Amino acid sequence: MDNMYDKVMESTKYIQSKNNLKPKVGVVLGSGLGDLIDVIEEIEYISYEDIPNFPKSTVIGHQGRLVFGKINGVDILAMQGRFHYFEGYTMKEVAYPIFVMKQLGIEQLILTNACGGINTDFQPGTLMIINDFINLVSDNPLIGVNDERFGTRFPDMSEPYKLDLIDKAKNIANEMGIEYKEGVYAGFMGPYYETAAEIRMIKNHGADAVGMSTVPETIAANYLGIDVLGISCITNMATGIQKHKHSHERVVETAQKASVNLSKWVAKIIENMN
Ligand code: HPA
Repeated sequence: MDNMYDKVMESTKYIQSKNNLKPKVGVVLGSGLGDLIDVIEEIEYISYEDIPNFPKSTVIGHQGRLVFGKINGVDILAMQGRFHYFEGYTMKEVAYPIFVMKQLGIEQLILTNACGGINTDFQPGTLMIINDFINLVSDNPLIGVNDERFGTRFPDMSEPYKLDLIDKAKNIANEMGIEYKEGVYAGFMGPYYETAAEIRMIKNHGADAVGMSTVPETIAANYLGIDVLGISCITNMATGIQKHKHSHERVVETAQKASVNLSKWVAKIIENMN
């Protein structure tokens, strides 16, 4: 993407011209995990299609928008709808909103997703704190000439999910009686659900869950100096572990059920962010 910095600044200025809010906390809502929207107060929307230079949606009827508002008194900026690599966007396009979030002042980012469980301690409906990722797409949003105004050429990735935030999420879950697991998220390109052999391979390499999102946004956020918390909802067991075939409808249905607890948890985490 040529002149990415100028493009990001133009997107940022447009958004700032629409409201005066200065949230420091961002949230990306995964498939079926939109319940959090219901607890946002003083809500204001900006459609992605109205924001200059934002990636254009390839899916008809796809509703993508930024949501500004307050959760338990804390200003937040949520993304309802994210961009995926499998839709044909470049990695830079997938991560573009995170670059804009940085310019808007976001310091902490909560990424959520629906994914498949590899660890057999999990079951559909399990909520998993992501403690690391494996990038299985031979691409990432930092490829190309580096612009030092965004970040350093060779960013550290030793703590992609901030340990302080993980501790906070665990303490809050324990107080609230919310069950959770913890593990490594492997990001595949998709859009096909993985083969059983692929799942066996990544299980042997330490993956606990598998999905088609989150990794590009995590990489970009770390590069930009934004702290990340990642929470996955296990919507199904991965190929070869579950006996039946995958169904997108079932994935969304399970995510929607788990979204109730996930939203309560995320709202409380946001309330306790500083
Ligand atoms: N694999 C990849 N992505 C997913 C899955 C899965 O099993 N479930 C939900 N998203």
